[in-house]
Amino acid sequence: MNNVHILFIGAGRMAEAIFSGILTHQPEIMITVSNQSNSAHLDLLQSNYPIQTTSSWTEVIDQVDVILLACPPGAHSEVLQKMSLLLKKGQLVVTVAAGIGPSKLEAALPKGTPVAWLMPNTAADVGKSMSIYAYGSAITDTHRNIFEKVVSAIGPSEELSEEQVHNLTAVTGSAPAFLYSFVEALEQTATKYGLTAEQARKLVIEMVIGSAAMLAKHRDPAKLREQVTSPGGATAAGLTSLANDQFSDSIIRAIHATNARAKELGS
Ligand SMILES: NC(=O)c1ccc[n+]([C@@H]2O[C@H](COP(=O)([O-])OP(=O)(O)OC[C@H]3O[C@@H](n4cnc5c(N)ncnc54)[C@H](OP(=O)(O)O)[C@@H]3O)[C@@H](O)[C@H]2O)c1
Repeated sequence: MNNVHILFIGAGRMAEAIFSGILTHQPEIMITVSNQSNSAHLDLLQSNYPIQTTSSWTEVIDQVDVILLACPPGAHSEVLQKMSLLLKKGQLVVTVAAGIGPSKLEAALPKGTPVAWLMPNTAADVGKSMSIYAYGSAITDTHRNIFEKVVSAIGPSEELSEEQVHNLTAVTGSAPAFLYSFVEALEQTATKYGLTAEQARKLVIEMVIGSAAMLAKHRDPAKLREQVTSPGGATAAGLTSLANDQFSDSIIRAIHATNARAKELGS
């Protein structure tokens, strides 16, 4: 197969995170980037990366193998409608938009169009997005190979069903915000003991990075928790306080609230 060529529709944060990962890890892939109206931003991207840019994706769509929609969910219906008239057989259409799964893409595009739904998180910026994805029904092995190359450029990933991607986006996409909120609470507590904000930040962030490294190595949070917790000791008292405040239930409720709101927004 000739070099794969990907067209990005949307040139914001997520598009840049994905194509910069691709350029680093899969430099043979050709990238063209377009947006709605901000040509100064396209000029900036073109001066920073070895990519082509265009203000009119409809004029280049026939030259590409993959079209990746990185525009807001609300822009999809108009973009997909235009695209329907221009797609060539076998071109793969991918979206990273929240709430726009393969069945919505298939309903809006010509019958038999291969589609995929990719849900990355903001760690795509540093090549560490835990991404989840689902395929539509017309996907071939060639499409899978191309898609999986693209996804691996921004971090680890897992193929799930469409329904699972809907429900698990809260865990991979939104829960990083829960973790950052936990970090903020620890920082606030640390400053109450007389640390400067800078010291508090260092202590907490390095603790999280160290804990994440332990998780990456040992992959068993319960065992790691037990190692820190002597029976009847100080950490045990802290964990009991968290349990009394229904820490686990509170996280589960947060995931349910996230999913409920995502459903409202996607309908
Ligand atoms: N950021 C995240 O953490 C994250 C995570 C997972 C998924 N996503 C998804 O990624 C997508 C993009 O998010 P983002 O954070 O990158 O947004 P963003 O930074 O606001 O960028 C949106 C881009 O879409 C372009 N655009 C808007 N309407 C368009 C249209 N009708 N036709 C063509 N291009 C259009 C904008 O162009 P102009 O600047 O010219 O208007 C801009 O380049 C969203 O669907 C979001 O759900 C984001």
